[in-house]
Amino acid sequence: MNTDQFLVKSDLKYIDKASFTWQTPSNIALIKYWGKSNPQIPKNASISFTLNNCHTITTINFERKLHSELVSESHQNIDFDLLFEGKPKEEFKPKIAEFFKRVQEYCPYIFNYKMIINSENSFPHSSGIASSASGLSAIAMCLMSLEKEINVDLSQEFINKKASFLARLGSGSASRSIEGPLVVWGNHPEIEGSSDLFGVQFPHKVNAIFENYQDVILLVDKGEKQVSSTIGHNLMINHPYAENRFTQANENLTKMSKILQHGNIKEFINLVEREALTLHAMMMTSNPYFILMKPNTLEIINKIWEYRQEKNSNICFTLDAGANVHVLFPENEKENVLQFIDSELSIFCQKKQYICDNIGLGAKILTP
Ligand code: DP6
Repeated sequence: MNTDQFLVKSDLKYIDKASFTWQTPSNIALIKYWGKSNPQIPKNASISFTLNNCHTITTINFERKLHSELVSESHQNIDFDLLFEGKPKEEFKPKIAEFFKRVQEYCPYIFNYKMIINSENSFPHSSGIASSASGLSAIAMCLMSLEKEINVDLSQEFINKKASFLARLGSGSASRSIEGPLVVWGNHPEIEGSSDLFGVQFPHKVNAIFENYQDVILLVDKGEKQVSSTIGHNLMINHPYAENRFTQANENLTKMSKILQHGNIKEFINLVEREALTLHAMMMTSNPYFILMKPNTLEIINKIWEYRQEKNSNICFTLDAGANVHVLFPENEKENVLQFIDSELSIFCQKKQYICDNIGLGAKILTP
């Protein structure tokens, strides 16, 4: 695998100070990534809708270290402070320190700067919505903005590719949060340009039915995850169904690619729900086994099925590694479905909370 392309080869023209602010979204996988090998290489290809309203906004202030500071450091030191919603957040630091360690080979300039990272999410903290995809993709974009300042010849295409590559090293699904509306991550024979190293935009024209597709996230359980994604991925090692699952996921991506192009919505519904339940079936059949769905997750799923049958609707659900339910539907059903969610599904949510979202286009720079 050609990771060489992401090394910095030219001489860098260091600047003393810089500050960049990026807004990057969360994403929801249609074909799921579950299982990886080192270093953050997925066992199968996945595809996701990029979201719009669920995002992280991150500013990084970079201040160049003095020459004396650099020589006095006995070994190379990555120096950063982290603020979350304006306040220091020690518990988030280890994941970010690990991220910087993994990317240092590709971003050697981080040793030359003190970084102050200031981050906030648009969705409520501990809503059970994974913030690692939006959080790490935002940091990756800020690093790439600095890299462009000190190495001016970079194209936008390369910046996005390397940002996705870096974000992946922090959290696999973060590689799918740089662009939109549909991103594939993982090498797949039928997706041109696809790679295990970074996400690429879905390369085919998508049927109009999927334009501005809606995703309402029902907040069933806002608590801390019982099992982190990383532990879950590792339980796919020696999982009795692992190899079949990885083959199936790649086959499902072939099917999904056709569905997205031809607009066969009934097949879309079937495949998306099958993927969600297969993901959770993998969790329930690993050793140790675990269940992330809650009773209200199942209540909601049954209500969605009833509604779809009664109203001949094209609503469906998907799940990520938690109890929350993503309700997906075409824009032309928005009014009716929102009414249904408010009157019949919100009662199964904590404090009746849900977030209305739709497909988005990816990272946006907020600094002028
Ligand atoms: C179930 O990207 O959170 O949401 O690479 O260990 O950070 P790490 O895992 P992560 O896993 C996401 C798993 C998923 C499915 C998906 O988004 O494809």
